[in-house]
Amino acid sequence: MFIYTQSDEVNLTTRHMRTRDSKPSMQGEFDMLQVSSPSLDEDEIRAVTAVLRSGMLVQGSQVARFEQLFAAYVGTRHAVALNSGTAALHLALLAAGVGEGDEVITTPFSFVASANAILFCRARPVFADIDRETFNINPHLLKQAVTKRTKAVIVVHLYGQPCDMDQITGICDEHNLVLIEDACQAHGAEYRTKKVGSFGIGCFSFYATKNITTGEGGMITTDNDDIAQQSKLLRSHGQSEKYLHQILGFNFRMTDIAAACGISQMRKLDELNEKRIRNAAFLAGQLTGIEGLAIPIVGPERKHVFHQFTVRVTSRFGLSRDELAAALKERGIMTGVHYPIPIHKQPLYRNLGYDGCFPVSEQVARETLSLPVHPGLSDQDLRYIVQSLKEARNGSHCHQACMCGTEAIDKLPQSPAVSCASTSLARTGNARVPKGTIVRGQVDIGEGASIEENVVLGHRDDGVLSIGAKAHIRSGTVIYSGVSIGKGLKTGHNVLIREETEIGDDVLVGTNTVVDGHCRVGDRVVMQTNVYLTAYTVVEDGAFLGPCAVTTNDKYMEYGAKLVGATIKRGARIGANSTILPGVTIGEKAIIGSGAVVTKDVPDGAVAVGNPAQRMRGKAATRSSRNSPVEAGEQPTRSRS
Ligand SMILES: Cc1ncc(COP(=O)(O)O)c(C=O)c1O
Repeated sequence: MFIYTQSDEVNLTTRHMRTRDSKPSMQGEFDMLQVSSPSLDEDEIRAVTAVLRSGMLVQGSQVARFEQLFAAYVGTRHAVALNSGTAALHLALLAAGVGEGDEVITTPFSFVASANAILFCRARPVFADIDRETFNINPHLLKQAVTKRTKAVIVVHLYGQPCDMDQITGICDEHNLVLIEDACQAHGAEYRTKKVGSFGIGCFSFYATKNITTGEGGMITTDNDDIAQQSKLLRSHGQSEKYLHQILGFNFRMTDIAAACGISQMRKLDELNEKRIRNAAFLAGQLTGIEGLAIPIVGPERKHVFHQFTVRVTSRFGLSRDELAAALKERGIMTGVHYPIPIHKQPLYRNLGYDGCFPVSEQVARETLSLPVHPGLSDQDLRYIVQSLKEARNGSHCHQACMCGTEAIDKLPQSPAVSCASTSLARTGNARVPKGTIVRGQVDIGEGASIEENVVLGHRDDGVLSIGAKAHIRSGTVIYSGVSIGKGLKTGHNVLIREETEIGDDVLVGTNTVVDGHCRVGDRVVMQTNVYLTAYTVVEDGAFLGPCAVTTNDKYMEYGAKLVGATIKRGARIGANSTILPGVTIGEKAIIGSGAVVTKDVPDGAVAVGNPAQRMRGKAATRSSRNSPVEAGEQPTRSRS
């Protein structure tokens, strides 16, 4: 039987029964395991054939029935069928009155249609970065992006996981913003048992890869009579009755052929989603704990319907994302990269003048890889995917050959003194984890680490913390979930490293130092006692911060002001007790004298001293110089504590 399968392009292929106990030959002994595959059978074929036989092909009784069923399913008063998800987003914005001069906040990490719809309306997309764990828009950053011009927000329930709707509806209510939900990948997903698409104006796609499909197709869902009415006018040339055109509209109508297919698919939606959820649970269970592989995390109160099962292949995996994709392809498994380029980096947006930096989206774009999770997979297929991924990794280089597989992880001796959240996996290698240590979430620590007593690792049950080999973590230290740290970390006592921070290899964090959330710290950075790095600070490779050096986040310390980090470039040296104001860049190998207050950028190689810091004549001295203002506070790269 023919069933069409596809990855990013739709193509018609014959899908054979296959066995996965041998490698595929280069001649293609069996077909590839696709990353997406629509679940179509005789029901859809019969329904579509009946419409073709009837001769009533466009926006008739089948469309009306599909709309009724879909509205009832999502729990809204109206559903308006269209010919694509893009059309749904476009009309939702127009119907809500978004137009020239308006700003609409959305995520930079989605399919480009989410933002393009804003451009179609001559409004301006404003991006807010995503949360690294859920891949969805970060509500905190969304709130910071609101201005007087903001008219609407488009949140995307990416890969089938609902966004944090409590926070998002709160922000929209507070600022009187139209909420549009791009639920194109999230049919049937729920937040606090309420279906997505019912919080604001819902926009769905029925493209061939989606959880249910009509080939191409889309739907708007809403409780608002005016939005529904306006969308209906706009989808068919502004026509209120035959050949009476009220407004300028489009031809975005759905055919009855597509709707008939959609009605059949609707009957199966819950069952298909349950299969996706079951497949995802299997993959997550089998792949948890593999060093360098971040498996998807389901946020609290969410029903995630796994349109995609997207892992992050981080630098500690041993293979790059693309190498892993190639290795899986060689074993007959197709994967997808959703998405390799964040929207703000697309040529279209660059040409429109977008040059902002959304570091989480940019990092995630380098790391994401979607594995097959669709309902057409057999248990054998799923086991084959897990086995192939583990083989691909072990076939590269493996730091911990004996502990790569789930089986090995299960056999790890767990110290009874370690306190673990019930869902957590402490993968501690030969680390010493003494009494009083609290380990929460998925904590992944490389070989040879040593941890002193009263350390908190993880901090959230659903979070992921990964620390490379040979760390030495002193007592009283707290490291949040969502942090990733390379090998050779050394801390003093009572260090705090907060959420979503990334730290490179061989970094030293002195006693009582605080590294706030979302910081990026490169390799071989030294931070001495009492350093305070505020949120979003970037410290590049080899930089040095003397005792009590601080960055500040907010110039005037206003409540709710936008948090902007400083950037300390490669090899710069910051003297003791100095303060660096938000947004300031300290150039490569620049030197900041002790006690300086740096209010503006310091060029590469410059020396700046005083309050406010002024440039001294000449260039920064080399490390061997005796006279640099920073030398007095500089210590060899070892913690003093
Ligand atoms: C998140 C997201 N938004 C919008 C769309 C656009 O939907 P369509 O392809 O039906 O126009 C898609 C579909 O690929 C999507 O995944």
